[in-house]
Order: sequence, then structure tokens, then C-alpha cells
Amino acid sequence: MTKPWSPTSWRELPIVQVPDYPDDAALGEVERTLRSYPPLVFAGEARSLKAKLADVAAGKAFLLQGGDCAESFAEFSADNIRDTFRVLLQMAAVLTYAGGMPVVKVGRIAGQFAKPRSAPTETVSGVELPAYRGDIVNGIEFEEGARVPAPDRLLRAYSQSAATLNLLRAFAGGGYADLHNVHRWTLGFISDSPEGERYRALADRISDAIAFMEACGLTPENTPQLRQVDFYTSHEGLLLAYEQALTRVDSTTGDWYDTSAHMIWIGDRTRQPDGAHVEFCRGIKNPIGIKCGPSLKPDELLRLTDLLNPENEPGRLTLICRFGAGKVGEHLPAFIRAIEREGRAVVWSCDPMHGNTIKTGSGYKTRPVDRILAETREFFEVHKAEGTHAGGVHFELTGRDVTECLGGAQAITEGDLSSRYHTHCDPRLNASQALELAFRVAEGIRAERMDRAKKPEAAA
Ligand code: PEP
Ligand code: CO
Repeated sequence: MTKPWSPTSWRELPIVQVPDYPDDAALGEVERTLRSYPPLVFAGEARSLKAKLADVAAGKAFLLQGGDCAESFAEFSADNIRDTFRVLLQMAAVLTYAGGMPVVKVGRIAGQFAKPRSAPTETVSGVELPAYRGDIVNGIEFEEGARVPAPDRLLRAYSQSAATLNLLRAFAGGGYADLHNVHRWTLGFISDSPEGERYRALADRISDAIAFMEACGLTPENTPQLRQVDFYTSHEGLLLAYEQALTRVDSTTGDWYDTSAHMIWIGDRTRQPDGAHVEFCRGIKNPIGIKCGPSLKPDELLRLTDLLNPENEPGRLTLICRFGAGKVGEHLPAFIRAIEREGRAVVWSCDPMHGNTIKTGSGYKTRPVDRILAETREFFEVHKAEGTHAGGVHFELTGRDVTECLGGAQAITEGDLSSRYHTHCDPRLNASQALELAFRVAEGIRAERMDRAKKPEAAA
């Protein structure tokens, strides 16, 4: 017998990674205010994402999920939103054209504010303060006052998410994402790089294909896919007070949806089967991601899939694997075999970021692009060996010319990191590095397709 669920049932269970608010009454007041605010996304949109993810689970599409590690109030601007959207569009163009599969586009954006931390406090020069937990909770400045969790930050995160989503919707549907603009999505700083060159060549071929299709009668007027994209939002469902306040009953189905984003994922630190985060996500009907790190055991994974997807609905669960380069072969096959044995429909996605974070001698958190590429390659290899679909990728990236990850075509060195290191949390790929990865991933998708074409019985 499953226990009854309600938007508040998580409050009865053990919880980790929660801020300690000094004033519960003030938090309660903010939660009441948020409950009265309009939803940010619509249940029907979350259902359409689930249907697309069901195609990914069935091996017929590919998931591209990416964006900031942590959005911040300071970096909130139209240019930033546009640049992230634009690099995702470019990557999607590469994956769709070079990989030859429909690409489901999901941003880590318009709500990705709350951060789990490896330690509750941070010590600098002998001074210990509470850790920064994302702009929705407290301030990044290393000052006592800034680190106190402040409830009004939830309202600011809500309004920033609303404005971000508004712009994204305009970009996705209002002409910016029209495939005729495929050449214009190139960001200034990568246009002269090898990746920019490679992208230009691909964009030329796409333009030729569009001209061909138009000559055949497929125009933007009669084929909306040419002039707009479906773009979805996602974030880690960490700050449950915020998520609960935006959870509403969908009037057409009577089901509960968390209307803060289309997709919500559970972090690697908060996926305890008996914990509050799993309990909350169990009852909402949005597509759910689970971060699967090296400490997860196959039987625990099956328990999570039972709890979160008892009906085995395809598209409901995305398993976002993040083991670290060199460790995929050790963990992923056992997961795949357990899931296959139980006949579970899931999307397999690869997050090659979170298992590959290192600290340099000068104290910068960084990630070598080589290791990110290596983990991605291992992910594709394991799926090839197991005969399953490498369904997606999950990246931390920005459209800006930052120097946060080492290597890539620009050969960013340790000495370069300080030049444009802007992240509020983990190091992100810049647009050039992201594009380089997209080309590599497209090769993986293509190889899988070719392999399947050789074995038609396996694809049936
Ligand atoms: C993240 O995605 O930013 C994150 C913290 O990931 P994980 O839960 O996998 O460590
Ligand atoms: Co991160």
C-alpha cells in the first residue's frame, strides 16, 4: 500500500540540504504570497515534454539539457538569457543535423537557483560562515549578513524566473529560433574559432536543406517546426518550500504539477528513498530526473524508479548519470542491466560535469574538457555494448566567453581561469567548448544510429 501523498507530505520526512531560516513566520508569509501567484508553466506543457521524453526512452529522440550551474540575481540580463538560449540552439542544430535525431531541448534555466553543498559551512582565512546555497537562499558574498537565509529571495527568484521564461518563450516562438537564422546564432567570440568554422559549414548545409524543402513546398507558413522550437525549463527541486508553493492541481486532469518548471530533478545528495525530496517528487506529475552518482546502488535505483514511477510511464524518469571519467564502465552497466531486467522505461542521460570537478593549486574549481569528453564517450560506449539508447546529455554551460573549464579548442590553461571566471557555483563550459562537445556527441548519436541500422531486428 502506498502512503497517501499531498504537497505537504514531504514535511513529515527526514530532509537534508535545507537552509536554517531564522524567522519561520517570515518564510510562511512568503510561501503564502507565492501560493497566490500565477503558475510559471502550464501542466499541458509538462505533459508534452513527457511525451517527447517518452520518444527518447524509446530510442527515437535525444535529450539536450543544459544551462547555468546556478542562476544568479547579479547575472540576470537579456543578453545572458539570449546567449544561453542561442548556444543551446546551436548545439541542437548540430545534434539534429549531424546526429540525425529529433532533439528535445531543456534549459537549466528560469528557476535553477538553489544549490546543494558538500559542507554546511565555508571557512576563509580562519573565518567560518554558513555556506552559500544559491541566490534563492542567501548571498554569495563572504559576509555574515549575506549568508543568513532570507525568505524574500524566494519572491525575487520567482520574478526573475517569470521574466526569463517570458523572454525564452518569445525567443522560441517569435522568430529568433527560425531555422533560417541558423547562421545568425553564432556568438561573436566563437565565429573565428575552429568550432565556429565547423558550425558555419554545418549551417550552410542546413540552409541548403531548407532551400530544398521550400522548393518542395515545406515553408515556415505550413511547417511551424521551421520557424519555432519547443523549449522547456528545468531545475533541481531542492528548496521544497518554494516548489510546494508553486505546486497546483491541473484543472483538466485533477493531477498535481509543480508549475515552477517543466522538469524537476532530484540531486545526487537528496535522492534518499525515504527522504523528503523523493517524497515531494513522487506526487507531482512533471517529468522527473534523478542524478545517479557513484554511491548509488542498482537496487536503490530500482527502489527509486518504483517510488517515482510506479506505473512505468515512459518519459516520466530521466536517469542523469554522473560518475566521472574512467568510472562509467564500473557503474553504468549494472544500472542498465537492472533497469532492463525489470522492464523499466527510462531516459538515460549523461552529466559529464559533476563527476569531473577538480581544484587547481590556486584554488579554482574547474573541469578539464578532456575529462568531460572522456566521460561522454564512455557513456556512449557502454550503451553500445549493452544495446541500449544513449538518450541524452546534461551540461553546465553558458553562452558567454568565460574561462571556467580547462582545455577545449581555445586551450584554456590554469593561468587563464582567473581571466573570466564568473560562475556562482560550478565551472561551466563556454559556448565554444559547448559546441565542440555537441559535435562529439553528434558523432556518438550517428554511430549508434548506424549500428542500429545494421541490426534492424534489435531496433524493432
Ligand atoms: C548540479 O546539477 O548542479 C548538481 C549539484 O549536481 P549533483 O546533484 O549531480 O551533484
Ligand atoms: Co553544478
